[in-house]
Amino acid sequence: VHEEEQVFVDFAIELVKKAGTLVRTAFDSAESKVETKLSNTDLVTETDQAVEKLLIQGLSDRFKGHRFIGEESVAGGAKIEWTDAPTWIIDPIDGTTNFVHRIPMIAICVGLAIGKKLRAGIVYNPITNELYLGQVGKGAFKNGFPIRASKNQLLSKAVLCQSLGLHNRVQFGDRWLDIAQGNMRNQVLAGVRGHRSFGSAAINMVMVAQGSCDGYVEYGIHAWDVAAPAVIVLEAGGVVTDPTGAPFDVMSRKVLCAGTPELGKDLSNCLTHVDFEPEA
Ligand code: IPD
Repeated sequence: VHEEEQVFVDFAIELVKKAGTLVRTAFDSAESKVETKLSNTDLVTETDQAVEKLLIQGLSDRFKGHRFIGEESVAGGAKIEWTDAPTWIIDPIDGTTNFVHRIPMIAICVGLAIGKKLRAGIVYNPITNELYLGQVGKGAFKNGFPIRASKNQLLSKAVLCQSLGLHNRVQFGDRWLDIAQGNMRNQVLAGVRGHRSFGSAAINMVMVAQGSCDGYVEYGIHAWDVAAPAVIVLEAGGVVTDPTGAPFDVMSRKVLCAGTPELGKDLSNCLTHVDFEPEA
């Protein structure tokens, strides 16, 4: 089984690199057509769609019976089917707003789950040419070199990633802003060194995986934003949980990561929690 899984992952890495060429060319060339999805802050471009097609086509031609959960397929009406079959969870461009604004913080995310358990994650920024890989039991790597999450246990020494999650206004209205700002305020009162927001959930998470940032929390994300980087954070020695501290559920639309369980717990205690309808 493990050898077979390695074949899946190696093939996916090659496809992701191909997709990266497509994204880099589009990033460097004339403006792409931008459309909005559920809200004014939810963007999609032709490149997102082309990359998702390339990945799903390539993987499904090679591996019969594998299933797919892709951001743009779901936006196009596909139902999320979360089964025991090998399932590729794909975000063709995580950080679409960055892509549209030519901010070089974007990631092609490909996660693999088998038996509903995350097994591998590939996060590739084709602009900076950084490829992160995590595989259960095999460690976490950036361009082939091992990475480690930070060992910091103290909020007073932490740099945290957080997004305001503007799209959550669709569900919670302007009350969302009070919650999100309150959460940041509590972290500031706890003495954190600062906040960063890279505009891509996956980049935020690999920043935790490589120990640059100590923690990250976000509400309202989707499985395709976090499936791949979650494996990378865990394999880098970090923790990935629900923001309440409960076990992580990739379909729950929320995530907390930290370099250490102690920091994760203290970060969780700063938060007013909200719940979403699980996506599967
Ligand atoms: C978004 C980015 C963003 C996060 C949103 C995501 P997309 O993904 O990861 O940082 O705040 O929740 O939806 O739409 O660019 O793939």
